[in-house]
Amino acid sequence: MVLQKGCGILHKLVINGGKKISGEIKLQGAKNSALPILAATVLVEGQTVIKNCPELTDIYVASRILTHLGCKVTRQEKETVVVSNNGITCGFISEKLMREMRSSIIFLGAVLGRCGECSLYFPGGCQLGPRPVDIHLSALRKMGIMISEEHGRINCTAPNGIKGAKIMLEFPSVGATENIILAAVKAEGETEIKNAAREPEIKDLVSYLVKCGAKIEFSSESTIRIKGVDRLDGCEHSVIPDRIAAATYLAAAAITDGAVCISGTSQLDASSFTGYFEHMGCSVYICNDKICLKGKNRILPVKSLKTMPYPGFATDMQAIIMSVLCKADGTSVFEENIFESRYKHVDALNMMGADIKVYGKIAVVQGVKKLYGANVEATDLRGGAAMTVAALAAEGTTEITCINHIDRGYEKIDTVLASLGADIKRKPEFQ
Ligand code: EPZ
Repeated sequence: MVLQKGCGILHKLVINGGKKISGEIKLQGAKNSALPILAATVLVEGQTVIKNCPELTDIYVASRILTHLGCKVTRQEKETVVVSNNGITCGFISEKLMREMRSSIIFLGAVLGRCGECSLYFPGGCQLGPRPVDIHLSALRKMGIMISEEHGRINCTAPNGIKGAKIMLEFPSVGATENIILAAVKAEGETEIKNAAREPEIKDLVSYLVKCGAKIEFSSESTIRIKGVDRLDGCEHSVIPDRIAAATYLAAAAITDGAVCISGTSQLDASSFTGYFEHMGCSVYICNDKICLKGKNRILPVKSLKTMPYPGFATDMQAIIMSVLCKADGTSVFEENIFESRYKHVDALNMMGADIKVYGKIAVVQGVKKLYGANVEATDLRGGAAMTVAALAAEGTTEITCINHIDRGYEKIDTVLASLGADIKRKPEFQ
């Protein structure tokens, strides 16, 4: 079966709140792992079988980029994507494809590593404030790559080949770390990345590449060493579970005083986020491959939540945890340190009866007893998920439009939540 796009027409979510979210679900694979792994298949000879690959619109876009570059991509069964790479036919990615998501930029390192040159455009993706790629480009320049920028187009060539280099990142950017790894795996010599991002999704990318024959090691928590090899061969790899989706479904149970068990989580470092739910007074159990949460009638506030690079509090969880704390018995304070504009969901939550005040990077959430249904617009992926979580606990009906943002990162969120008892329907936007 050839990959199909998730939705052709615009949809909205219609949620009648007030139902407890309870039951068991299997967790989807991580979007932020699957995307760089798909990009990495550009470097590999032959066939890669990616298991636990979520069915998301961003995955569909990555598949279109791969097809455009000359690979064959098929989804063989629900969770398995196969990429056949018998040679890349072009090193150019159009502006249209690049604008469809932020992760398109990860193809830069991969195409460079394969072809020694690449031409593409600045990427699109969630509008979370400025999202420059200066750290990516300055690292690539250190590796002997010549880069020119004109009218939003980035042209890269490595006239003398890509050379290993010692790179110290000014910030542990996830995307820059991935791009450097991808450019370095087949480069001449050794590359060292200091202050590298340490997210589990980076480790998953490394684990895939090592299976393909790459020589990569973590010489400390935040230093990665890569020895260039001549050739990488396709392999089978299973994508790690999605920690942000896990937190979202736990949040749905927490805010509705429900109880969920999420299976398929054995490879998940749950300790990085379950503590927040425990602070709220929820009971969390981790057993074999399951994480289970039981909610609490009145959630407790969390005094201070500061987003930080991994293993700190993830910026991708900020909006989702905030939606739960809207109903806490007291005041919670957030500090967003990763992105400049990641409070876009606040207006929608306030329209639903929340009491949130934003002062620059600080958001003060005064818990309220009740949230109310409203017509809101998903502003970005996690903001849209936060509105969905809040709507589950709101009195009355919430309609969330622009859910194309949500579909970029959640596999059939409506079906999953309905299976847990939510009254949620996906309808055409103009119905
Ligand atoms: C990744 O984005 C994730 N996306 C994001 O997930 C996540 O929010 C983010 O990491 C932080 O954890 C994917 O993995 C596909 P960064 P990325 O480079 O790579 C600044 C989601 O909801 N920066 O670590 O774009 C940048 O502006 C999303 O799934 C520079 O200044 O994040 C930002 O403030 C959205 N210059 C900060 O660093 C650069 O060259 C973090 O960016 C690169 C980044």
